[in-house]
Amino acid sequence: MSEAMNYKNLGLVNTREMFKQAMAERYAVPAYNFNNMEQLQGIIIGCAESKSPVILQVSGGARKYANSVFLPYMAMGAVQMVKDLGAEIPIALHLDHGDSFELAKSCIDSGFSSVMLDGSHHSFEKNAALTRQVVDYAHEREVTVEGELGVLAGVEDEVSHEVSHYTKPEEVEEFVAKTGVDSLAISIGTSHGAFKFKVKPGEEVPPLRFDILEEIEKRVPGFPIVLHGASSVEPEYVKMINAFGGKMDDAVGIPAEQLRRASQSAVCKINIDSDGRLAITAFIRKVFAENPAEFDPRKYLGPARDALIEMVKRKNEQVLGSAGKA
Ligand code: G3H
Ligand code: 13P
Ligand code: ZN
Repeated sequence: MSEAMNYKNLGLVNTREMFKQAMAERYAVPAYNFNNMEQLQGIIIGCAESKSPVILQVSGGARKYANSVFLPYMAMGAVQMVKDLGAEIPIALHLDHGDSFELAKSCIDSGFSSVMLDGSHHSFEKNAALTRQVVDYAHEREVTVEGELGVLAGVEDEVSHEVSHYTKPEEVEEFVAKTGVDSLAISIGTSHGAFKFKVKPGEEVPPLRFDILEEIEKRVPGFPIVLHGASSVEPEYVKMINAFGGKMDDAVGIPAEQLRRASQSAVCKINIDSDGRLAITAFIRKVFAENPAEFDPRKYLGPARDALIEMVKRKNEQVLGSAGKA
């Protein structure tokens, strides 16, 4: 792309007003990841039908997959589709887990309204300096920035972390002041992917560290907090996947009840990728298992998209509380 593309020309908004309202009214804005058209449409239709604000979230890998030139037009298509559906919902396009200034800049220059700089695997000083550099560039263009302190267990940004390092509340104030970020991702026990915890049959998953979250809220009152790795790994989809030839026996996620509680706190953004992937995979597997001769992509991607619409609506309405807030 030769000339810079401004997100406002695509009909997108940054996350500032979204988070302000979410904080005041005690709900969380959903950030759903996507890589392709069916996922994007599933997310956008689900949010339009439940009248929820939405953050369309793309990792560096997803941007490569979808093509960085093509991607802003996908977002623009989503904005137009929402209008055509007669809905008015705020839509942000956000870089998930950006790992360099260059990547964040490239996204900002190609129409993203929000970016994350994830320097959580660096030292505090390096993380703060890198994040500040992105904030300076982004804020000049009215793009919002998410930073991260603390490391999640699971696979984050192609780096595998065996254990998580919870966010240290005592570092938060300084990080927010030094960097000027608009929101902060924290580590309180969530984890990326579909295999979040190793639990024995009958055992409960370890509860999130709400004590750490409360301590952070005390230190930066009213500041928007982000939860990554927040898929519930819905058992219904895992069951379907296993029933139709898949093998995901030990998949486990964050119970909806804990996400409901988090949504009512300073947590203003909840990231969901794995649940969308599972919904799609479950329904594609079902079509293939029941109709082995099927080869029309519409016949298996269509039901997958429908499943995603239902999942998005259900999460917005019953877990995040974002339904009806647009
Ligand atoms: O947190 C990471 C997201 O789930 C994106 O995953 O890098 O495989 O696109 P990805
Ligand atoms: P899940 O793997 O739990 O969906 O987390 C997604 C995420 O945090 C994207 O940044
Ligand atoms: Zn994440």
